Amino acid sequence: MRVAVVCASQYGATRGIAERIGAELALAGLDARVYDAASPPHAEDVAGFDAFVVGSAVYMGHWLKDASTFVRRHQPTLLEHQIWLFSSGPLGTETTDADGADIRESTVPAEITEFTNTVRPVGHRVFFGAIDPEALSLPHRMIRKFPGAAEKIPAGDFRDWTEIEAWAREIARSLVKAG
Ligand SMILES: Cc1cc2nc3c(=O)[nH]c(=O)nc-3n(C[C@H](O)[C@H](O)[C@H](O)COP(=O)(O)O)c2cc1C
Repeated sequence: MRVAVVCASQYGATRGIAERIGAELALAGLDARVYDAASPPHAEDVAGFDAFVVGSAVYMGHWLKDASTFVRRHQPTLLEHQIWLFSSGPLGTETTDADGADIRESTVPAEITEFTNTVRPVGHRVFFGAIDPEALSLPHRMIRKFPGAAEKIPAGDFRDWTEIEAWAREIARSLVKAG
């Protein structure tokens, strides 16, 4: 069974998550390939995959354009296949905000409502991400300089590999069962 893991990543954190998901799917015996959403499978090859996992880093509440473009461009094909979505966004060690709300729920990016309707994903997950302030572009460094922003965008790697691998194994089990 062929699975395309397509990701959009500005600084590599999301790419790392996509690669770990791809590795777990491969361990389960699936033919998984990881693509950057900027250079996804050729349009004519997309329908040749049995399933998709599509993810993006989140900036200012939105997926990166390349990931959204991939989903919108291939919507009819994706709707006919099993697809899982993930977002790599929040930073820090707190899992609830000041109001006690789950941060993974309050940071769901804007596009997910649309994609839930257009490609009917089996699921969508928000994973904690990572940021190295030294690697940031000038505009992103400037955003972190706004009062209170550095606390909301703390430096560090907060990716939970146990959670990511468990989700990938869930996907693998579902596909192996279906296939
Ligand atoms: C300027 C800036 C804005 C961000 N905005 C958000 C946001 O709105 N929501 C969110 O969940 N994460 C936000 N993040 C965190 C990133 O999405 C997270 O660090 C992600 O893992 C980065 O992935 P990448 O290395 O693949 O680009 C922001 C980070 C920066 C530097």
